[in-house]
Amino acid sequence: MLTEASRRRSFPSLEGMIYLNTAAEGIPPLEVREALDQYFRDKQLGMDGRQRHFAQWEAAKALAAAFFGLAPADVGICSCSSEAYNLAALALRLRQGDEVVINDLDFPAGATPWLQETCPATVHVWKARDGALRVENLVELLGPRTRLVTVSLVSFFNGFRISLPAVVEAVHKHSPALLAVDVTQALGRVRLELAGVDLIVSSTHKWILASHGGGLVGVPAARAQEWSVPAGGWFNLEGAFGPQRFERAVNRPGAAGFTVGMPNFPAVYAIRAALEYLQGIGVAAIDRAARPLVLACLEGLSRLPVELLTPREESALAGILAFRHPAAEQIAQRLRAKNIHLMHHAGRLRIALHGYNTMRDVEVFLRELADTLAAVA
Ligand SMILES: Cc1ncc(COP(=O)(O)O)c(C=O)c1O
Repeated sequence: MLTEASRRRSFPSLEGMIYLNTAAEGIPPLEVREALDQYFRDKQLGMDGRQRHFAQWEAAKALAAAFFGLAPADVGICSCSSEAYNLAALALRLRQGDEVVINDLDFPAGATPWLQETCPATVHVWKARDGALRVENLVELLGPRTRLVTVSLVSFFNGFRISLPAVVEAVHKHSPALLAVDVTQALGRVRLELAGVDLIVSSTHKWILASHGGGLVGVPAARAQEWSVPAGGWFNLEGAFGPQRFERAVNRPGAAGFTVGMPNFPAVYAIRAALEYLQGIGVAAIDRAARPLVLACLEGLSRLPVELLTPREESALAGILAFRHPAAEQIAQRLRAKNIHLMHHAGRLRIALHGYNTMRDVEVFLRELADTLAAVA
């Protein structure tokens, strides 16, 4: 990933392409294809394959746990972040008068379970100022009835990275709330320090370079009772096939409660292979390689006639930069015609830089963007 040779070996589809859209879809290395092939071979064994499926399951959980700073038993795997949040909402058993804090830089998955009409809690929106979520504005929203604060470590919208220790401290000082952190736009790209976080959620098809159909959930053992998910199923139950199975259901507390039925094993194989791949390279090494690209890109963008949406504070940068331009769609189309891939939506353009990107990617992108801006002016 970090050298020309390893990039070519593991990511052949990147040849000739300037791929700046990992925040939407990561490019899986060939190691992940091998894992998916392995899944198929194991599946062909029928029921005998299950032992192999569960070996991958355990390995994937152990790897995710190492990334989260938790024990393997504190990790669950469901099908996507949205599912994780909906199950978390069930676990909270919110009542009238309870309060939940969401924020306006977040992806809908982490915010909308609490906006359902069946949710009795009052929702407060922590609003960004100039693209940044400031802790002092969070403190204003916290109180004795706050049950949950939900936030992304890195915003999908503009790449803003919260100051997690300050958020943890504020939440715990000013409320009895649990803190849920979505690390989808960070896991695999920047080192995680998640001490004090009560629920960790991540999708698996972006920076960790695995497949769709995965949702990683981390619940520290000390919080297992608070995140006891009252959902039907069987994989999540104690004694699901016991003699009292039609009288009562006993839900497993914590992370184990977030996998309600048979795990999505193809995704599990992919997660295992991708996390193993990333662990082999080291997230610190990825960050060391990709950070100068982010800084160079930010510097280049700030000299162009675009409206930067990402705050310029270095401590708040991860792998994403975003900007606005009235001709965003046209710009994206023109760049795409030159095999430069980025995200655009409603006037916003977003680029993402991972370990497989190179300084040449940034230089070509900035040059072509400057030409395109001149052409659409
Ligand atoms: C922060 C964040 N969370 C979650 C998701 C995706 O959620 P799901 O796995 O439910 O599709 C995204 C996708 O863009 C995201 O950026």
